[in-house]
Amino acid sequence: METTELMVEGDVNFSEERRKWDQQIIDPRTRQILDDDARYFLHQSMSSPCLEVLDSCKGSGIKTLSGNYLLDFHGNNVHQLGYGNDDVVSQIIEQMQLLPFSPRRYTNQPAVELAKKLAEMLPGDVNRSLFAPGGTSVIGMALKLARVVTKKHKIVSLWDSFHGASLDAISAGGELVFKKYMGPIMPGVICIPPPTTYWGIFGDTEADQLNYADYLEYVIEKEGDIGAFLAETVRNTDVQIPTRAYWKRVREICTKHKVLLILDEIPIALGRTGKMFAFENYEIEPDILCLGKGLGGGIIPFAAMVTRDRFNVADDISLGHYTHEKSPLGSVAALATINYIEKENLLQKVVDDGLWMKEELNKLKEQFQIIGDVRGLGLLWGIELVKDRKTKKKAKKKAEQIMYECMHHGLSFKVSQGNVLQLSPALTINREDLQRAISILAAALAKYS
Ligand SMILES: Cc1ncc(COP(=O)(O)O)c(C=O)c1O
Repeated sequence: METTELMVEGDVNFSEERRKWDQQIIDPRTRQILDDDARYFLHQSMSSPCLEVLDSCKGSGIKTLSGNYLLDFHGNNVHQLGYGNDDVVSQIIEQMQLLPFSPRRYTNQPAVELAKKLAEMLPGDVNRSLFAPGGTSVIGMALKLARVVTKKHKIVSLWDSFHGASLDAISAGGELVFKKYMGPIMPGVICIPPPTTYWGIFGDTEADQLNYADYLEYVIEKEGDIGAFLAETVRNTDVQIPTRAYWKRVREICTKHKVLLILDEIPIALGRTGKMFAFENYEIEPDILCLGKGLGGGIIPFAAMVTRDRFNVADDISLGHYTHEKSPLGSVAALATINYIEKENLLQKVVDDGLWMKEELNKLKEQFQIIGDVRGLGLLWGIELVKDRKTKKKAKKKAEQIMYECMHHGLSFKVSQGNVLQLSPALTINREDLQRAISILAAALAKYS
């Protein structure tokens, strides 16, 4: 199989370009650690064997063991505040010295304070939290809660979606690279096409977006016993920004058919789209909201499910039961993160940066034919590379070459769907570094266009 065929989500770690990248690593300590990593870890797609060895990270960037500094426009979406935010670090250290862990059946002040804060921030009766050590676990809890509340096990989700790598989460997701060899997976998941504005199967104009919503209703009516619709409000990986009309219609459909709307905002809440929560861009309310990644301040693995008061109906079973459930460290990290976003007026900065990015990236689109589409919101941007603007055929090889070229010059990002350069920098990044990233990208586009 051609390696480009395997480029369905991230870049692959055994392509020709990866081999070339690996061969130019000559620093002996780096070489040794990379070889040991490849020797002692199980190999898996998009992970080991690894790209490079990191030594440190701070703010918007990462530094390799051999001293190269890269602006990190990927960061696995934990880096809303950049790396090692001083407020977050100092509050975690203080908490570590006081109450580093809270055994189950006991509660603690930071956990309660965070649950209260989330209830204050979220609309209506979306007031009840359950915490967990990671996003995947939260998705599992949300699926379980939806079954308890609706007494139905079937859900609808979107093709190409990712909601975590566990068996339940891959069953709920729509990506082959995670489902391959895994059957039988959890039954009752029906995937439908995601609303896209570039190559959508039901059309790609703004008006066509309603076709995708209408198809959800079609499936709900035909299938008859759907309990929930699970989707990312804004799709992080290949950056799909649905229209307001789409989400308004989906919300109406879910309410009408008593289908719970589960919004997965694990990578994109906490300011990435210019709003604290992405659904605020659409004036809709989720029934269950999933948060994670940057919730732990980029330091502590931590995630939360928040739902309506009236869904507090499962006290005779365990929905989560995770060892690190009411983590005092995760809770102070989350509180420090939210407080920092509010105190520094980060949301306005992200909106301003978003407008600037839109202008700069559209200038690149005018300059380079290889760019078929530029789309984004706040500090989440996708650049879709195509062989031909008419056929929209994916330029996968070029996308990979451009990614490695950028890494050589100090800019790290990931490629999604094989041809979408996904740019998500720290929200705290300064304009100078944003400009530097655009210049590195422009030079790489010029070299490989
Ligand atoms: C949209 C989405 N949902 C869920 C997850 C799973 O989160 P975690 O890896 O923290 O378990 C991810 C992780 O990339 C994600 O992007």
